[in-house]
Amino acid sequence: MYKVVSLFSGCGGLDLGFKEAGFDIIWANDFDKYAVESYKHNISDHIICEDINNIKPSDIPEHDLLLAGFPCQPFSMMGKELGFSDYRGTLFFKILNILKYHLDTYGSPKIIVLENVKNLQTHDNGKTFKIMKESLEELGYTVNVDTLNSADYGVPQTRNRTYVVGIKDLPGTFQFPRELPLEKTLQDLLENNVDKKYFLSDKILKTVMSTGTKNYYAKPEIDLPIARPLCATMAKMHRASQDNYVTDNGKIRRLTPRECARLQGFPDSFEIVVSDSQAYKQFGNAVTVNVSFQVANSILTFLENT
Ligand SMILES: C[S@@+](CC[C@H](N)C(=O)[O-])C[C@H]1O[C@@H](n2cnc3c(N)ncnc32)[C@H](O)[C@@H]1O
Repeated sequence: MYKVVSLFSGCGGLDLGFKEAGFDIIWANDFDKYAVESYKHNISDHIICEDINNIKPSDIPEHDLLLAGFPCQPFSMMGKELGFSDYRGTLFFKILNILKYHLDTYGSPKIIVLENVKNLQTHDNGKTFKIMKESLEELGYTVNVDTLNSADYGVPQTRNRTYVVGIKDLPGTFQFPRELPLEKTLQDLLENNVDKKYFLSDKILKTVMSTGTKNYYAKPEIDLPIARPLCATMAKMHRASQDNYVTDNGKIRRLTPRECARLQGFPDSFEIVVSDSQAYKQFGNAVTVNVSFQVANSILTFLENT
């Protein structure tokens, strides 16, 4: 069984896909105690709750594959596009340091999987991604990159994300997973008898359904068959042009945390043990499990052929 270490694991979307594909996750890390609580409850207690900056590379066990769905704020379209000048941007360098130590000490990991927003590839006219790619190539990795949309892997959510699969010293060509037909709509994932707290009051409804100001006009659409990208701040309820709202018995409501979990490919056996706002944040931050599972299987296929 291939041994996996996971950095920035959140509640474990990326990890769950690899676990389901048969990988052995032996160590994980996140500094958000609520994400760690969800992870411990549902995946395993091998997770360490600590700022990665306080962890020495030598504290991390030897592994074959490294996962890092690292924080996307510095690169996202919504952020201020600060990139490396933002301290969180430097977390990429933390990943590099860990890789350097492990390659020098154990000659592994031979495979790395990074996930981030789509905009990572175009940020600062492509300069940010160029630095990342070249840094990984200096360590000997061949860098495969693609943008995968969750809606192409079985869940009704438009979620375009950059996936990087780095491979070192292994012959062969890695291929990203083939797209799958979408057989479900958002409506298929909705719960019945939803608690009244998820329905919008008249006052909130007015704000949520507004078109915005002249400079930021956006048509409020609800009941979309394919959901808009879930985001970490959806607990705050943005306008209907950004968040997802549905009609239920003639009234409009937001999605429940369970519906968000389903839209991210988490099975219903994944128990929600945190508050609604923490659950929205964790599912909004997560890698879609279906996509992760398919990427994990593509890596297995590559390893079988290599
Ligand atoms: C995009 S989310 C990761 C989602 C996760 N890969 C998944 O699939 O569910 C980024 C995570 O990085 C964590 N994080 C940010 N800065 C960190 C740091 N300095 N040390 C440890 N974790 C950090 C956040 O708490 C958050 O859970």
